[in-house]
Amino acid sequence: MSDRPRLLPLLGTPRHGSRDAMTCLYRCGNACEHPVPNTSDNAYFGDVVNAEVSRRGVVRAGVVGALVLGFSGAAAGALAGAAPAAAAPVPPVPPAGQAAAAGRRPGSGALSFKPIPPNTLDTFVVPNGYDHAVIIRWGDPVVPGAPDFNLRRQTAAAQAKQFGYNNDFVGVLPLDKRGRRALLVVNHEYTNEDLMFPGFTSQDALSVEQVKVAMAAHGMSVVEIERVAGTGQWQVVDSGRRPYNRRVDALSSKFELTGPAAGSSFLKTAADPKGRTVIGTLNNCAGGVTPWGTVLSGEENFNQYFVGGDAAPESEKARLARYGISTTARYPSGSRKWDRAAERFDLAKHPNEANRHGWVVEIDPFDPESRPRKHTALGRFKHEGANVIVARSGHVVAYMGDDERFDYLYKFVSDKKFMKGDSWVARKHNLTLLESGTLYVARLDQTSAEEIDGSGTLPSDGAFNGRGRWIKLVSGNRSYVDGMTAAEVLTFTRFAGDKVGATKMDRPEDVEPSLLTGKVYVALTNNSARGVGSNPAPDEANPRAANRHGQILELVEDRGDNTSDTFRWSLPIVCGDPADPSTYFAGYDKTKVSPISCPDNVAFDATGNLWISTDGNALGSNDGLFATATEGPERGHLKQFLTVPVGAETCGPFITEDNRSVFVAVQHPGEITGATVDNPASTWPDGDYAKPGVVVTWRLDGGPVGS
Ligand code: FEO
Ligand code: CA
Ligand code: CA
Ligand code: CA
Repeated sequence: MSDRPRLLPLLGTPRHGSRDAMTCLYRCGNACEHPVPNTSDNAYFGDVVNAEVSRRGVVRAGVVGALVLGFSGAAAGALAGAAPAAAAPVPPVPPAGQAAAAGRRPGSGALSFKPIPPNTLDTFVVPNGYDHAVIIRWGDPVVPGAPDFNLRRQTAAAQAKQFGYNNDFVGVLPLDKRGRRALLVVNHEYTNEDLMFPGFTSQDALSVEQVKVAMAAHGMSVVEIERVAGTGQWQVVDSGRRPYNRRVDALSSKFELTGPAAGSSFLKTAADPKGRTVIGTLNNCAGGVTPWGTVLSGEENFNQYFVGGDAAPESEKARLARYGISTTARYPSGSRKWDRAAERFDLAKHPNEANRHGWVVEIDPFDPESRPRKHTALGRFKHEGANVIVARSGHVVAYMGDDERFDYLYKFVSDKKFMKGDSWVARKHNLTLLESGTLYVARLDQTSAEEIDGSGTLPSDGAFNGRGRWIKLVSGNRSYVDGMTAAEVLTFTRFAGDKVGATKMDRPEDVEPSLLTGKVYVALTNNSARGVGSNPAPDEANPRAANRHGQILELVEDRGDNTSDTFRWSLPIVCGDPADPSTYFAGYDKTKVSPISCPDNVAFDATGNLWISTDGNALGSNDGLFATATEGPERGHLKQFLTVPVGAETCGPFITEDNRSVFVAVQHPGEITGATVDNPASTWPDGDYAKPGVVVTWRLDGGPVGS
């Protein structure tokens, strides 16, 4: 590969991790500068529920086995007939990881690629023997009839038909059984106006049309892609009809609210007196592909889009504050001032509008006419994403994290059971699974509490570990939280977690079950405030003070039942430089593992290996993608697979069912304070100015990636 020379390196100011101040401003509204929104004094880490675990070191559960009853192999064939008119019938959609790992314990394979070293190159780096290609980038046409991108004459109407900005989640859903065509479904989390508009000076100086461009650059894209014959490479389908291609955005797309809080007084506005239809989706971060072939998307830092919290009704201010919305300033620092283009963002006039964001969105990419839904049954918080597994009982279980310092882990268990088969009836049924069920929040107990001193020293029992409980918050219309109705629990879920003593975590990002083992992996990205000042002290699951590098938590549900209300947990990886004694790699020889910092998204390949992407590497390298076995002697043998260009974060990732293609989203390349369109800190991917884009990586000899 040829490495393009970096342009003048601009010095940014790192905040959390090594994240540049510019990213903090645009991505999360300077969340780390504001007080921690969770000021509850809920007791966390109470009794050690089951001391038996403590004497045994790392708990290794047996393989759960064939967990996903009902849709292994020919998964969610449910899609037949869901195709748009004139399109081919849609065959089965196997979620990643469904393939059986032939003859080997799932997750136990050795990874065959040679790890790449940390680096700060302004290019996309892959291991020897691999290649990569940009599939689609900001501004590329998506919807038929989309005009070519024009940097200096952008319009909202054009952007609404083009690929949005700052791609994050990546899902790839097969369109045929031979794996030649697929739908790429991508989130567009946020915009960076400094890097989008030539001559940008301030949000105030943007035209209203430019504000609308930014709104149209949010949301999601559905793009039909095809395999480059006989390889692991993919490209957009750019000829003929593309009936599935679609954009949804924050400007004009309509979303239906479902579940017990839909229609409640908390969700009604002047424009929507019934409280059932929302315009726009905000800050879509991670997500997941469901077993029935839809995509879930988490609305994360929605707080930063609202203004006028200072003039909101007094009765609402505590609720706004718990969700990170300023109640003291009309325009908090970094405000996008979208009220200039759409009055609904002004809480002084429309105090309920904020309640209509912060949900999990479900979109059916196989039905471009379908209205995407926001599922209130899954609770409202800063949703990183949601990932679903079908439990042995047939109920579906969605695991979720609230990405804020000292916020919580959640799971949802559906009332109804997954229906097998590819009939219309099954398809229609499965689309309702996330509309009713039970929402739980996690409480983690410790085995070595007295030894946790904030240094990250491994406890004498050989593990950061313990047992945990899923505490029931609400089931259908029945609340289990004193003093809160079901609609209140679902709309103001953080308060419910506070009341029941949920465990305050180090920013739970992606939470994803391995479909092969049923074990659940949580990326806890970092927490600069842990143990600092009056903030909560380190505990066994969050064992380091001022945690810069984050950790991976593994959760094993009791009896291998994902609907269980009890579980065991441990930390297989405590991130950082392996030479740093506070790091841990499941006991693997630390001289042989890659340094990793700030884990964010997780995914599994078809043999069950865990892939981890990073956001804000605090070790001086660009962000990257890593992989490790989760079982057997290779557990903890973490290797770096790729790095993204300067200023960027690695998002996605997604490994195809045949294990031959790794997709990642390169988010916010060149996002370094002082950079502009005309003076970029990165010229990736085209050699001019920085553009977020989706990249596919494959092995040159056509073999499987990873193992
Ligand atoms: Fe959008 Fe939690 O990262
Ligand atoms: Ca322990
Ligand atoms: Ca993320
Ligand atoms: Ca994931």
